[in-house]
Amino acid sequence: MAALRILILCLFAISAVYAHNITEILSDYPEYSQFNSYLSQTKLADEINVRQTITVLVLNNAAMDDLTSKHSLSVVKNELSLHILLDYYDPKKLHSVSKGTTLTTTLYQTTGNAPGNLGFVNITDLKGGAVGFGSAEPGSKLDSTYVKSVKQIPYNISVLEISKPITAQSILTAKSSNVNVTALLEKAGCKTFAALIVSSGVLKVYESQIDKGLTIFAPNDEAFKAKGVPDLSKLSNAELVSLLQYHALNSYTSKGSLKTTKDSISTLATSGAGKYDLTATSSGDEVVLHTGVDDSRISGVVLDSTPLVIFTVDNVLLPKELFGKSPSPAPAPAPESETPSPAPISTPIPAPASEAPAPITSSPPSPATETPESSPADAPAVKSENSSSDNTAGVVEAPALLKSLPLVSIVTALVFLS
Ligand SMILES: *[C@@H]1O[C@H](CO)[C@@H](O)[C@H](O)[C@H]1NC(C)=O
Ligand SMILES: *[C@@H]1O[C@H](CO)[C@@H](O)[C@H](O)[C@H]1NC(C)=O
Ligand SMILES: *[C@@H]1O[C@H](CO)[C@@H](O)[C@H](O)[C@H]1NC(C)=O
Ligand SMILES: *[C@@H]1O[C@H](CO)[C@@H](O)[C@H](O)[C@H]1NC(C)=O
Ligand SMILES: *[C@@H]1O[C@H](CO)[C@@H](O)[C@H](O)[C@H]1NC(C)=O
Repeated sequence: MAALRILILCLFAISAVYAHNITEILSDYPEYSQFNSYLSQTKLADEINVRQTITVLVLNNAAMDDLTSKHSLSVVKNELSLHILLDYYDPKKLHSVSKGTTLTTTLYQTTGNAPGNLGFVNITDLKGGAVGFGSAEPGSKLDSTYVKSVKQIPYNISVLEISKPITAQSILTAKSSNVNVTALLEKAGCKTFAALIVSSGVLKVYESQIDKGLTIFAPNDEAFKAKGVPDLSKLSNAELVSLLQYHALNSYTSKGSLKTTKDSISTLATSGAGKYDLTATSSGDEVVLHTGVDDSRISGVVLDSTPLVIFTVDNVLLPKELFGKSPSPAPAPAPESETPSPAPISTPIPAPASEAPAPITSSPPSPATETPESSPADAPAVKSENSSSDNTAGVVEAPALLKSLPLVSIVTALVFLS
Protein backbone atom coordinates (compact mmCIF):
# COMPACT_ATOMS: atom_id res chain seq x y z
CA MET A 1 0.00 0.00 0.00
CA ALA A 2 2.90 2.33 0.72
CA ALA A 3 4.04 1.82 -2.84
CA LEU A 4 0.57 2.62 -4.10
CA ARG A 5 0.48 5.81 -2.08
CA ILE A 6 3.84 6.86 -3.49
CA LEU A 7 2.63 6.12 -7.00
CA ILE A 8 -0.46 8.21 -6.51
CA LEU A 9 1.61 11.05 -5.07
CA CYS A 10 3.87 10.86 -8.09
CA LEU A 11 0.89 11.05 -10.39
CA PHE A 12 -0.32 14.17 -8.62
CA ALA A 13 3.12 15.67 -8.98
CA ILE A 14 2.98 14.95 -12.72
CA SER A 15 -0.47 16.44 -13.03
CA ALA A 16 0.86 19.59 -11.36
CA VAL A 17 3.22 20.01 -14.32
CA TYR A 18 0.18 21.05 -16.26
CA ALA A 19 -1.46 23.19 -13.58
CA HIS A 20 -0.75 26.28 -15.67
CA ASN A 21 1.19 27.57 -18.63
CA ILE A 22 2.62 31.05 -18.06
CA THR A 23 3.55 31.45 -21.73
CA GLU A 24 -0.05 30.93 -22.70
CA ILE A 25 -1.41 33.16 -19.93
CA LEU A 26 0.84 36.07 -20.95
CA SER A 27 0.28 35.60 -24.67
CA ASP A 28 -3.06 37.40 -24.24
CA TYR A 29 -1.22 40.57 -23.19
CA PRO A 30 1.00 42.19 -25.84
CA GLU A 31 2.17 44.75 -23.27
CA TYR A 32 4.09 41.95 -21.51
CA SER A 33 5.43 40.28 -24.66
CA GLN A 34 9.05 41.06 -23.78
CA PHE A 35 8.70 39.65 -20.29
CA ASN A 36 7.07 36.56 -21.77
CA SER A 37 9.77 36.12 -24.37
CA TYR A 38 12.51 36.35 -21.73
CA LEU A 39 10.73 33.81 -19.53
CA SER A 40 10.91 31.38 -22.46
CA GLN A 41 14.48 32.24 -23.47
CA THR A 42 15.78 31.74 -19.95
CA LYS A 43 13.59 28.66 -19.39
CA LEU A 44 12.11 30.28 -16.30
CA ALA A 45 8.71 29.55 -17.85
CA ASP A 46 9.30 25.84 -17.24
CA GLU A 47 10.17 26.55 -13.61
CA ILE A 48 6.96 28.52 -13.18
CA ASN A 49 4.82 25.87 -14.83
CA VAL A 50 5.95 23.03 -12.58
CA ARG A 51 5.20 24.93 -9.39
CA GLN A 52 1.76 24.75 -7.86
CA THR A 53 1.58 27.93 -5.83
CA ILE A 54 3.27 30.87 -7.42
CA THR A 55 3.08 34.60 -8.07
CA VAL A 56 4.67 36.21 -11.10
CA LEU A 57 5.40 39.94 -10.92
CA VAL A 58 5.40 41.05 -14.54
CA LEU A 59 6.90 44.16 -16.11
CA ASN A 60 5.56 45.94 -19.14
CA ASN A 61 7.71 46.18 -22.27
CA ALA A 62 9.15 49.60 -21.39
CA ALA A 63 10.25 48.43 -17.94
CA MET A 64 11.75 45.28 -19.47
CA ASP A 65 13.73 47.34 -21.99
CA ASP A 66 15.27 49.12 -19.07
CA LEU A 67 16.50 45.81 -17.68
CA THR A 68 17.52 44.01 -20.86
CA SER A 69 19.30 46.88 -22.58
CA LYS A 70 21.83 47.22 -19.77
CA HIS A 71 22.47 43.65 -18.69
CA SER A 72 23.58 40.29 -19.98
CA LEU A 73 21.11 37.47 -20.41
CA SER A 74 22.39 35.63 -17.34
CA VAL A 75 21.90 38.74 -15.21
CA VAL A 76 18.43 39.23 -16.69
CA LYS A 77 17.61 35.63 -15.81
CA ASN A 78 18.70 36.09 -12.20
CA GLU A 79 16.81 39.37 -11.96
CA LEU A 80 13.66 37.82 -13.35
CA SER A 81 13.99 34.98 -10.82
CA LEU A 82 13.40 37.65 -8.15
CA HIS A 83 10.06 38.38 -9.80
CA ILE A 84 8.80 34.87 -9.23
CA LEU A 85 7.44 34.48 -5.70
CA LEU A 86 7.02 30.96 -4.31
CA ASP A 87 3.72 31.88 -2.67
CA TYR A 88 0.31 33.00 -3.80
CA TYR A 89 -0.36 36.74 -3.57
CA ASP A 90 -3.55 38.13 -4.98
CA PRO A 91 -4.33 41.86 -4.61
CA LYS A 92 -6.29 41.21 -1.41
CA LYS A 93 -3.41 39.34 0.25
CA LEU A 94 -0.96 42.05 -0.85
CA HIS A 95 -2.92 44.66 1.06
CA SER A 96 -3.24 42.54 4.17
CA VAL A 97 0.31 41.33 4.90
CA SER A 98 0.70 41.08 8.66
CA LYS A 99 2.21 44.21 10.27
CA GLY A 100 2.26 45.77 6.81
CA THR A 101 5.56 44.22 5.70
CA THR A 102 6.91 40.76 4.88
CA LEU A 103 9.81 38.99 3.22
CA THR A 104 8.80 36.34 0.70
CA THR A 105 10.91 33.62 -0.93
CA THR A 106 11.61 33.89 -4.66
CA LEU A 107 12.75 31.41 -7.26
CA TYR A 108 16.25 32.90 -7.02
CA GLN A 109 16.52 31.39 -3.53
CA THR A 110 16.30 27.90 -5.08
CA THR A 111 19.36 28.38 -7.28
CA GLY A 112 21.78 27.85 -4.41
CA ASN A 113 23.56 31.12 -5.30
CA ALA A 114 21.66 33.31 -2.90
CA PRO A 115 23.56 34.23 0.27
CA GLY A 116 21.81 36.08 3.10
CA ASN A 117 18.54 37.68 2.09
CA LEU A 118 19.38 37.88 -1.60
CA GLY A 119 16.72 35.36 -2.60
CA PHE A 120 13.92 37.24 -0.82
CA VAL A 121 11.68 40.12 -1.77
CA ASN A 122 10.33 42.67 0.67
CA ILE A 123 6.63 43.45 0.23
CA THR A 124 5.46 46.47 2.19
CA ASP A 125 2.01 47.99 2.40
CA LEU A 126 2.78 51.67 1.91
CA LYS A 127 0.54 54.47 3.07
CA GLY A 128 -2.30 55.46 0.79
CA GLY A 129 -3.05 51.99 -0.51
CA ALA A 130 0.16 51.51 -2.49
CA VAL A 131 2.23 48.34 -2.16
CA GLY A 132 6.00 48.51 -2.55
CA PHE A 133 8.38 45.77 -3.67
CA GLY A 134 12.14 45.62 -3.29
CA SER A 135 14.99 43.19 -2.90
CA ALA A 136 15.54 42.12 0.72
CA GLU A 137 19.27 42.61 0.23
CA PRO A 138 20.33 45.31 2.74
CA GLY A 139 20.57 48.73 1.14
CA SER A 140 18.01 47.98 -1.59
CA LYS A 141 15.28 50.42 -2.45
CA LEU A 142 11.60 49.66 -2.09
CA ASP A 143 10.87 51.54 -5.28
CA SER A 144 8.79 49.20 -7.39
CA THR A 145 5.06 49.44 -6.81
CA TYR A 146 1.99 47.36 -7.50
CA VAL A 147 0.25 48.47 -10.71
CA LYS A 148 -2.59 46.04 -11.32
CA SER A 149 -3.78 42.49 -11.29
CA VAL A 150 -3.30 40.64 -14.58
CA LYS A 151 -4.62 37.14 -13.91
CA GLN A 152 -5.49 34.90 -10.99
CA ILE A 153 -6.15 31.19 -10.82
CA PRO A 154 -6.95 31.06 -7.11
CA TYR A 155 -4.20 29.59 -4.96
CA ASN A 156 -2.31 28.25 -7.99
CA ILE A 157 -0.95 31.20 -9.92
CA SER A 158 -1.28 34.91 -9.62
CA VAL A 159 0.12 37.35 -12.16
CA LEU A 160 0.53 40.96 -11.02
CA GLU A 161 2.08 43.91 -12.81
CA ILE A 162 4.64 46.00 -10.93
CA SER A 163 6.07 49.35 -12.01
CA LYS A 164 9.79 48.62 -12.35
CA PRO A 165 12.33 45.82 -11.98
CA ILE A 166 13.16 44.58 -8.49
CA THR A 167 16.94 44.84 -8.49
CA ALA A 168 19.55 43.45 -6.15
CA GLN A 169 22.94 45.16 -6.44
CA SER A 170 24.94 41.97 -6.07
CA ILE A 171 23.01 40.30 -8.91
CA LEU A 172 23.52 43.27 -11.23
CA THR A 173 27.25 43.43 -10.59
CA ALA A 174 27.97 39.69 -10.59
CA LYS A 175 30.80 38.77 -12.95
CA SER A 176 29.69 36.26 -15.50
CA SER A 177 31.66 33.07 -15.06
CA ASN A 178 34.44 32.82 -17.60
CA VAL A 179 34.08 29.89 -19.92
CA ASN A 180 37.11 28.80 -21.94
CA VAL A 181 35.47 28.23 -25.31
CA THR A 182 38.52 26.75 -27.02
CA ALA A 183 39.15 24.30 -24.19
CA LEU A 184 35.54 23.12 -24.37
CA LEU A 185 35.74 22.75 -28.15
CA GLU A 186 38.97 20.79 -28.02
CA LYS A 187 37.53 18.45 -25.45
CA ALA A 188 34.44 17.91 -27.61
CA GLY A 189 36.52 16.74 -30.59
CA CYS A 190 36.51 20.05 -32.46
CA LYS A 191 40.25 20.82 -32.42
CA THR A 192 40.38 22.03 -36.03
CA PHE A 193 37.55 24.46 -35.50
CA ALA A 194 39.09 25.66 -32.21
CA ALA A 195 42.44 26.28 -33.94
CA LEU A 196 40.74 28.18 -36.79
CA ILE A 197 38.81 30.54 -34.53
CA VAL A 198 41.98 31.30 -32.58
CA SER A 199 44.18 31.90 -35.63
CA SER A 200 41.58 34.01 -37.46
CA GLY A 201 40.74 36.12 -34.41
CA VAL A 202 37.08 35.10 -34.56
CA LEU A 203 37.33 33.79 -30.98
CA LYS A 204 37.46 37.44 -29.84
CA VAL A 205 34.26 38.15 -31.76
CA TYR A 206 32.61 35.17 -30.10
CA GLU A 207 33.80 36.16 -26.65
CA SER A 208 32.57 39.73 -26.99
CA GLN A 209 29.14 38.36 -27.81
CA ILE A 210 28.78 35.81 -24.99
CA ASP A 211 27.20 38.13 -22.43
CA LYS A 212 24.43 39.11 -24.84
CA GLY A 213 23.80 35.53 -25.93
CA LEU A 214 25.79 33.28 -28.27
CA THR A 215 25.15 29.99 -30.03
CA ILE A 216 28.07 28.14 -31.66
CA PHE A 217 27.78 25.33 -34.22
CA ALA A 218 31.16 23.62 -34.05
CA PRO A 219 31.98 21.10 -36.79
CA ASN A 220 33.87 18.11 -35.41
CA ASP A 221 37.33 17.21 -36.70
CA GLU A 222 35.94 14.55 -39.03
CA ALA A 223 33.79 17.19 -40.75
CA PHE A 224 36.87 19.10 -41.90
CA LYS A 225 38.37 15.91 -43.36
CA ALA A 226 35.20 14.85 -45.16
CA LYS A 227 35.26 14.61 -48.93
CA GLY A 228 33.67 17.56 -50.64
CA VAL A 229 34.80 20.09 -48.08
CA PRO A 230 36.42 22.91 -50.04
CA ASP A 231 40.09 23.69 -49.43
CA LEU A 232 39.83 26.33 -46.74
CA SER A 233 43.42 27.46 -47.30
CA LYS A 234 42.25 28.90 -50.64
CA LEU A 235 39.93 31.31 -48.85
CA SER A 236 41.03 34.87 -48.20
CA ASN A 237 41.27 35.97 -44.58
CA ALA A 238 38.02 37.88 -44.88
CA GLU A 239 36.28 34.85 -46.35
CA LEU A 240 37.57 32.59 -43.59
CA VAL A 241 36.32 35.05 -40.98
CA SER A 242 32.89 35.07 -42.65
CA LEU A 243 32.85 31.27 -42.75
CA LEU A 244 33.64 31.02 -39.04
CA GLN A 245 31.19 33.75 -38.09
CA TYR A 246 28.62 31.82 -40.09
CA HIS A 247 29.00 29.07 -37.48
CA ALA A 248 27.51 31.20 -34.69
CA LEU A 249 24.32 33.11 -33.82
CA ASN A 250 24.15 36.30 -31.79
CA SER A 251 21.54 34.90 -29.42
CA TYR A 252 21.13 32.14 -26.90
CA THR A 253 19.27 29.60 -29.03
CA SER A 254 18.65 26.25 -27.40
CA LYS A 255 17.87 23.13 -29.37
CA GLY A 256 14.23 23.55 -28.41
CA SER A 257 14.10 26.98 -30.05
CA LEU A 258 15.83 25.70 -33.17
CA LYS A 259 13.13 23.05 -33.44
CA THR A 260 10.36 25.62 -33.47
CA THR A 261 12.04 28.25 -35.65
CA LYS A 262 10.59 28.24 -39.13
CA ASP A 263 12.08 31.50 -40.38
CA SER A 264 15.59 31.84 -41.67
CA ILE A 265 18.15 32.40 -38.95
CA SER A 266 20.72 35.19 -39.05
CA THR A 267 24.30 34.33 -38.13
CA LEU A 268 27.21 36.46 -36.92
CA ALA A 269 28.26 36.71 -40.57
CA THR A 270 24.93 38.21 -41.61
CA SER A 271 25.48 41.71 -42.90
CA GLY A 272 22.19 42.36 -44.62
CA ALA A 273 18.78 40.81 -45.08
CA GLY A 274 19.00 37.25 -46.32
CA LYS A 275 22.80 37.21 -46.36
CA TYR A 276 24.67 34.37 -44.66
CA ASP A 277 21.59 32.91 -43.07
CA LEU A 278 20.52 29.38 -42.21
CA THR A 279 17.35 27.41 -41.84
CA ALA A 280 16.64 24.55 -39.48
CA THR A 281 14.34 21.56 -39.73
CA SER A 282 13.65 18.92 -37.13
CA SER A 283 12.36 15.41 -36.91
CA GLY A 284 11.85 13.94 -33.47
CA ASP A 285 14.81 15.00 -31.41
CA GLU A 286 17.02 15.59 -34.43
CA VAL A 287 17.74 19.06 -35.77
CA VAL A 288 19.34 19.62 -39.18
CA LEU A 289 20.73 22.94 -40.36
CA HIS A 290 20.51 23.91 -44.04
CA THR A 291 22.77 26.46 -45.68
CA GLY A 292 21.45 26.27 -49.23
CA VAL A 293 24.64 24.40 -50.18
CA ASP A 294 24.80 21.61 -47.61
CA ASP A 295 23.04 20.22 -44.56
CA SER A 296 24.44 19.44 -41.16
CA ARG A 297 23.00 17.51 -38.28
CA ILE A 298 23.36 18.79 -34.72
CA SER A 299 25.21 15.86 -33.22
CA GLY A 300 25.76 16.95 -29.65
CA VAL A 301 25.43 19.64 -27.02
CA VAL A 302 28.79 20.63 -25.55
CA LEU A 303 27.36 23.33 -23.30
CA ASP A 304 23.91 24.78 -22.76
CA SER A 305 24.07 27.33 -20.02
CA THR A 306 22.40 30.71 -20.46
CA PRO A 307 23.66 32.83 -22.23
CA LEU A 308 25.95 30.42 -24.16
CA VAL A 309 25.16 27.27 -26.06
CA ILE A 310 27.72 25.22 -28.00
CA PHE A 311 26.58 22.46 -30.35
CA THR A 312 28.68 20.05 -32.36
CA VAL A 313 27.60 19.59 -35.97
CA ASP A 314 28.76 16.84 -38.28
CA ASN A 315 29.41 18.92 -41.39
CA VAL A 316 31.12 22.22 -42.05
CA LEU A 317 28.35 24.73 -42.78
CA LEU A 318 28.98 26.06 -46.28
CA PRO A 319 27.29 29.42 -46.89
CA LYS A 320 25.99 29.97 -50.41
CA GLU A 321 27.67 33.39 -50.44
CA LEU A 322 31.05 31.61 -50.50
CA PHE A 323 30.36 28.20 -51.98
CA GLY A 324 27.21 28.44 -54.05
CA LYS A 325 26.69 30.24 -57.34
CA SER A 326 22.95 30.61 -56.96
CA PRO A 327 20.74 30.72 -53.89
CA SER A 328 19.21 27.41 -55.01
CA PRO A 329 20.02 24.34 -52.95
CA ALA A 330 21.83 22.83 -55.93
CA PRO A 331 25.42 22.26 -54.83
CA ALA A 332 27.72 24.29 -57.04
CA PRO A 333 31.50 24.53 -56.56
CA ALA A 334 31.29 22.56 -53.34
CA PRO A 335 29.86 19.25 -54.45
CA GLU A 336 28.68 16.85 -51.80
CA SER A 337 30.58 13.62 -51.95
CA GLU A 338 28.96 10.52 -53.37
CA THR A 339 31.14 8.17 -51.39
CA PRO A 340 30.37 7.55 -47.75
CA SER A 341 32.36 9.91 -45.58
CA PRO A 342 33.04 9.48 -41.85
CA ALA A 343 30.48 12.18 -41.20
CA PRO A 344 27.52 11.39 -43.44
CA ILE A 345 25.33 14.24 -44.53
CA SER A 346 22.00 13.75 -42.89
CA THR A 347 18.72 14.23 -44.61
CA PRO A 348 16.14 16.25 -42.71
CA ILE A 349 13.53 13.51 -42.58
CA PRO A 350 14.78 9.99 -41.96
CA ALA A 351 12.06 7.87 -43.49
CA PRO A 352 10.79 5.59 -40.70
CA ALA A 353 11.61 7.93 -37.86
CA SER A 354 8.16 9.28 -37.11
CA GLU A 355 7.72 7.14 -34.02
CA ALA A 356 11.25 7.00 -32.68
CA PRO A 357 11.95 10.21 -30.79
CA ALA A 358 15.74 10.06 -31.10
CA PRO A 359 16.87 8.18 -34.20
CA ILE A 360 20.53 8.65 -33.41
CA THR A 361 21.72 5.07 -33.35
CA SER A 362 22.65 5.06 -37.01
CA SER A 363 25.00 7.99 -36.77
CA PRO A 364 28.51 8.17 -35.34
CA PRO A 365 28.57 8.78 -31.61
CA SER A 366 29.02 12.39 -30.75
CA PRO A 367 32.45 13.06 -29.28
CA ALA A 368 30.82 15.62 -27.06
CA THR A 369 28.94 13.05 -25.04
CA GLU A 370 31.65 10.52 -24.55
CA THR A 371 33.65 11.81 -21.63
CA PRO A 372 31.46 13.73 -19.27
CA GLU A 373 33.45 12.75 -16.17
CA SER A 374 36.74 14.07 -17.42
CA SER A 375 35.59 17.65 -17.78
CA PRO A 376 37.86 20.13 -16.05
CA ALA A 377 36.56 21.62 -12.85
CA ASP A 378 36.32 25.10 -14.35
CA ALA A 379 34.33 23.98 -17.36
CA PRO A 380 30.70 22.93 -17.16
CA ALA A 381 30.25 19.24 -17.82
CA VAL A 382 29.41 18.10 -21.29
CA LYS A 383 25.77 17.21 -21.44
CA SER A 384 24.03 14.61 -23.47
CA GLU A 385 21.65 15.80 -26.13
CA ASN A 386 18.46 15.06 -24.27
CA SER A 387 19.47 16.17 -20.79
CA SER A 388 17.60 18.95 -19.13
CA SER A 389 19.73 21.83 -20.09
CA ASP A 390 20.10 24.18 -17.22
CA ASN A 391 21.28 24.12 -13.66
CA THR A 392 18.25 25.65 -12.02
CA ALA A 393 16.34 23.45 -9.64
CA GLY A 394 12.86 22.08 -9.78
CA VAL A 395 12.08 21.14 -13.35
CA VAL A 396 10.27 17.85 -13.48
CA GLU A 397 10.02 16.11 -16.81
CA ALA A 398 7.21 13.63 -16.89
CA PRO A 399 7.76 10.63 -19.12
CA ALA A 400 6.00 11.07 -22.42
CA LEU A 401 3.74 8.08 -21.87
CA LEU A 402 2.45 9.38 -18.55
CA LYS A 403 1.92 12.82 -20.03
CA SER A 404 -0.47 11.40 -22.53
CA LEU A 405 -2.50 9.23 -20.17
CA PRO A 406 -5.48 10.70 -18.40
CA LEU A 407 -4.73 10.89 -14.69
CA VAL A 408 -8.11 9.58 -13.65
CA SER A 409 -7.77 6.35 -15.55
CA ILE A 410 -4.35 5.65 -14.03
CA VAL A 411 -5.61 6.25 -10.51
CA THR A 412 -8.66 4.09 -11.16
CA ALA A 413 -6.48 1.32 -12.50
CA LEU A 414 -4.19 1.48 -9.47
CA VAL A 415 -7.03 1.40 -6.98
CA PHE A 416 -8.52 -1.54 -8.86
CA LEU A 417 -5.18 -3.42 -8.83
CA SER A 418 -4.75 -3.00 -5.08
C1 LIG B 1 -5.00 24.35 -8.96
O1 LIG B 1 -4.07 23.29 -9.05
C2 LIG B 1 -4.61 22.05 -8.60
C3 LIG B 1 -3.50 21.04 -8.59
O2 LIG B 1 -2.75 21.08 -9.75
C4 LIG B 1 -5.74 21.65 -9.53
O3 LIG B 1 -6.30 20.42 -9.10
C5 LIG B 1 -6.80 22.74 -9.48
O4 LIG B 1 -7.83 22.44 -10.40
C6 LIG B 1 -6.20 24.07 -9.83
N1 LIG B 1 -7.21 25.12 -9.61
C7 LIG B 1 -7.72 25.81 -10.59
C8 LIG B 1 -8.73 26.83 -10.21
O5 LIG B 1 -7.35 25.63 -11.76
C1 LIG C 1 2.47 26.58 -23.23
O1 LIG C 1 1.87 27.43 -24.17
C2 LIG C 1 2.69 27.74 -25.29
C3 LIG C 1 1.99 28.82 -26.12
O2 LIG C 1 0.61 28.62 -26.16
C4 LIG C 1 2.98 26.48 -26.05
O3 LIG C 1 3.79 26.75 -27.17
C5 LIG C 1 3.69 25.50 -25.12
O4 LIG C 1 3.91 24.26 -25.77
C6 LIG C 1 2.87 25.27 -23.86
N1 LIG C 1 3.67 24.50 -22.92
C7 LIG C 1 3.24 23.36 -22.35
C8 LIG C 1 4.18 22.70 -21.40
O5 LIG C 1 2.13 22.90 -22.57
C1 LIG D 1 11.03 46.06 4.12
O1 LIG D 1 11.67 47.27 3.78
C2 LIG D 1 11.26 48.37 4.58
C3 LIG D 1 11.90 49.64 4.02
O2 LIG D 1 13.26 49.43 3.79
C4 LIG D 1 11.68 48.11 6.03
O3 LIG D 1 11.26 49.18 6.85
C5 LIG D 1 11.02 46.82 6.49
O4 LIG D 1 11.47 46.50 7.80
C6 LIG D 1 11.36 45.68 5.55
N1 LIG D 1 10.55 44.54 5.91
C7 LIG D 1 11.08 43.42 6.44
C8 LIG D 1 10.10 42.35 6.78
O5 LIG D 1 12.28 43.26 6.58
C1 LIG E 1 41.81 28.14 -22.84
O1 LIG E 1 42.24 26.83 -23.10
C2 LIG E 1 43.32 26.73 -24.05
C3 LIG E 1 43.64 25.27 -24.22
O2 LIG E 1 42.59 24.62 -24.73
C4 LIG E 1 44.53 27.45 -23.56
O3 LIG E 1 45.54 27.41 -24.54
C5 LIG E 1 44.16 28.89 -23.24
O4 LIG E 1 45.25 29.54 -22.65
C6 LIG E 1 42.96 28.95 -22.29
N1 LIG E 1 42.58 30.34 -22.13
C7 LIG E 1 42.43 30.90 -20.95
C8 LIG E 1 42.03 32.34 -20.96
O5 LIG E 1 42.63 30.28 -19.90
C1 LIG F 1 18.97 10.10 -23.49
O1 LIG F 1 19.46 9.54 -24.68
C2 LIG F 1 20.13 8.31 -24.49
C3 LIG F 1 20.64 7.87 -25.83
O2 LIG F 1 21.42 8.90 -26.37
C4 LIG F 1 19.17 7.28 -23.92
O3 LIG F 1 19.85 6.07 -23.66
C5 LIG F 1 18.60 7.81 -22.60
O4 LIG F 1 17.62 6.93 -22.11
C6 LIG F 1 17.98 9.19 -22.83
N1 LIG F 1 17.56 9.73 -21.56
C7 LIG F 1 16.37 10.32 -21.40
C8 LIG F 1 16.11 10.87 -20.04
O5 LIG F 1 15.55 10.42 -22.30
